[in-house]
Amino acid sequence: MKICVIGSGYVGLVSGACFADLGNNVICVDKNVNKISNLKNGVIPIYEPGLEELIQRNVKQKRLKFSTNISNSIIKSDIIFICVGTPTKIKSNEANLKYIFQVVKDLKKNLNKYKIIVTKSTVPVTTGDKIQKLLTTKTNKKLFDVVSNPEFLREGEAIRDFMFPDRVVVGTNSKKANDVLKNLYSPIIKKKGRYFNTSRRAAEVIKYAANGFLATKITFINEMSNLCEKLNVDVTDVSLGIGTDERIGARFLRAGPGYGGSCFPKDTRALISTSKKFKTDLSIVKSTINSNENRYKYLLTKINEILNNNLKNKKITFLGVTFKAGTDDMRDSASLKLIPYLIKKGAKVSYYEPTGIKKDFDKKKVVYFNNIKDACKNSDLLIIHTEWNEFKQLNFNRLINKKKFKIYDLRNLYSPKKMKNKNINYFSIGR
Ligand code: NAD
Ligand code: UGA
Repeated sequence: MKICVIGSGYVGLVSGACFADLGNNVICVDKNVNKISNLKNGVIPIYEPGLEELIQRNVKQKRLKFSTNISNSIIKSDIIFICVGTPTKIKSNEANLKYIFQVVKDLKKNLNKYKIIVTKSTVPVTTGDKIQKLLTTKTNKKLFDVVSNPEFLREGEAIRDFMFPDRVVVGTNSKKANDVLKNLYSPIIKKKGRYFNTSRRAAEVIKYAANGFLATKITFINEMSNLCEKLNVDVTDVSLGIGTDERIGARFLRAGPGYGGSCFPKDTRALISTSKKFKTDLSIVKSTINSNENRYKYLLTKINEILNNNLKNKKITFLGVTFKAGTDDMRDSASLKLIPYLIKKGAKVSYYEPTGIKKDFDKKKVVYFNNIKDACKNSDLLIIHTEWNEFKQLNFNRLINKKKFKIYDLRNLYSPKKMKNKNINYFSIGR
């Protein structure tokens, strides 16, 4: 198949490289000239385990190409995947579809033969209807189908999630388009997942319902962890105790600093905006958003308590600042709320981050170290913010030379009992 992927970010690059690896001819395009020129020189713009090797291999085999020439790439292709961003509109909280509609303009000019136009970007229900309407002229009706094929990959696990999906959802009532896409996905479906054809609108709703549900599940366990802290109960026991019930499921029950990232926060907000538009009250998702947005206040109260309400000149070290391990993505990371507050209160904040320095923090005020040892030196408080493997077996007594250092583990990586035996002042979430 000849595939054009428009938007070469987390989703576009991973999808493009994986489709190429399955034997298709793929051209990944982007309007960001710099990004494409870097990709042509083998420089991958994001941190995603395994992606560089996958891209290199497929470029070498000439199955994967990069271009800024969107029109030409559309003309040459049979299937077009739209993978541009759909960020939150600041005032209304709805999904900003301007990048999608820019792409639609390019598509309209270049429908030289039948093409399947697939939205992989997360878009509110009825966006597919709008795209179809915008593309349609009196003469071109048979020249395209607009399909919704939401993407469920996670950053940091993107290639595995793409290649071994639980399900592939394809929203279309066109038999022609469905047959082509079923064939395209067949090597993946054979491995593990399930191919699910439904209506275009249902596919669009499924994507938001999945993210809304997962965000709610995380928020539920976070609130339970607050209760556990009051009762001296271990929340990880509660997660296990409920998660082993197959109706509940064990995954996404890890209590932590609140969900972040480029998707749960924006998609839950967009879902509420959609519900308003269709005059429905999604009160559970509303509550989830509210609880998650306020979670950082709970953590800050705890940090104040740990440091006896005296943050001035305290050295606080963050291990990891991205929204979770396995990614370089800072979007909606809890650290973006915690660190500025701590600085304002006079703390001296430093951090180590496996994916390197972040431009989100003022270099003069928040010091970056490229190794754990230097970052931890003389720390009063170590905050384990993400769950990278390299944070999981540290010898804190050797790392930190201050006598009375404390640890606040936001990912419950260590056993409180073992920490106590080592005489370490250790705090965690819901335990
Ligand atoms: P991203 O910001 O990493 O990448 C989007 C890319 O699109 C950018 O490189 C940008 O330059 C390019 N672009 C924007 N307008 C363009 C245009 N008119 N023509 C060509 N290129 C254009 O975004 P992302 O994280 O890959 O997310 C893309 C979409 O996929 C979003 O709707 C998101 O919600 C959804 N999604 C993301 C993930 C994820 O893990 N990041 C997972 C599933 C779904
Ligand atoms: C999430 C979904 O998991 C993907 O299925 C979806 O495709 C994607 O959003 C999207 O729509 O873009 P992602 O944001 O990459 O993927 O990361 P997750 O692993 O889901 O984590 C999201 C946030 O929840 C992180 O801050 C993470 O630390 C937190 N989380 C996750 C918890 O606090 N506890 C958990 O048990 C799981």
